[in-house]
Amino acid sequence: MKMNENFFISKAIDPLPYESKWEAPSNIALIKYWGKKKLQIPKNPSLSFTLDKSVTRTSIRFEPSKSGKFNFKFFFNDSLKPDFDDKLHVFFDRIKKYVCWIINYELTIKSINTFPHSSGIASSASAMAALSLAIMDLESYLFNFEKNDFFFTKASFLARIGSGSASRSIKGPVTIWGDNRKISNSSDLYAIEFGKDLNSIFKSYQDIILLVDKESKNVSSTKGHDLMHSNPYAEKRFLQARRNCDSLIPIMKSGDLDAFIKIVELEALSLHAMMMTSNPYYILMKPNTLSIIEKLWDFRKGKNIPACFTMDAGANVHILYPSEYEKQMIPFIDQELSSFCKNKEYIVDQVGAGARKLD
Ligand code: PMV
Repeated sequence: MKMNENFFISKAIDPLPYESKWEAPSNIALIKYWGKKKLQIPKNPSLSFTLDKSVTRTSIRFEPSKSGKFNFKFFFNDSLKPDFDDKLHVFFDRIKKYVCWIINYELTIKSINTFPHSSGIASSASAMAALSLAIMDLESYLFNFEKNDFFFTKASFLARIGSGSASRSIKGPVTIWGDNRKISNSSDLYAIEFGKDLNSIFKSYQDIILLVDKESKNVSSTKGHDLMHSNPYAEKRFLQARRNCDSLIPIMKSGDLDAFIKIVELEALSLHAMMMTSNPYYILMKPNTLSIIEKLWDFRKGKNIPACFTMDAGANVHILYPSEYEKQMIPFIDQELSSFCKNKEYIVDQVGAGARKLD
């Protein structure tokens, strides 16, 4: 069933102490979300692989507030991290309407990531997803309901308010966020699972993340989305993404890998084309990003292996392929691609099943 915004507004209730810990994965988009209306309502649907090993683990201790005011402390890797307070305040202010019971609490939030910062893996996606799940855990305890579809859908809804792509980090192995005429229960408000029709080849996909650059990017995603408002090609891009999404959906069912590659690589390059045609223009790719793409294209032609690339908003390259090609791919990556990475570093990940509660 498709849910509207009113489904997600909870009642106020007396606070009870509680503790909850969740692990949520990052994700890599195949159809890119780039351009939004307010509060992360996307201009086009997006579709992603959920990752497996690249996760955020977040615990929240909820204490009834002694001062009568909502408050939180945020620890990252065991140290108090006030740098994230502004972003978190904005998040809590925005979600209060939907979890109004939260205003009676003081929260101690502790988070770690299993992957390095600025590695081309979206940490805001896994972080906002884990945080939202821990909040929903307390809501389900207070209002005594199961961790059912509503639980995960509302977690995705809250995560979206924190960071759009985070809505896709609750479930796996493939999720879709954004109204789409091919999938009747899809929504701009939250992400849904691709569903049972997913071809099994995609459940075995590997994602090797080549760390070309580990510096923080000089134009943030927030700024990048914003620049789409004045990009002269924006409307065409939203149309292209909608069409690519329409075309990819049957491919995700049939497992046609040649067609899959054509759409995934087109999406990655179209995302970066939007950066280059924004005003002010900018480039996040590095020379080594292009060297990797050329090497991969040569290798694919020579060996007839269905490996392809995608990119996030950064210089790093995600190499995607079915696990049956592992034996050929790992030596190729080690011997021919890792020299384009900072300190020859890359991360080996694969598609995953989605978030889970930790003890
Ligand atoms: O969720 P945000 O605001 O970090 O934007 C994500 C944008 C991309 O990662 C480039 C694409 C996507 O769909 O994940």
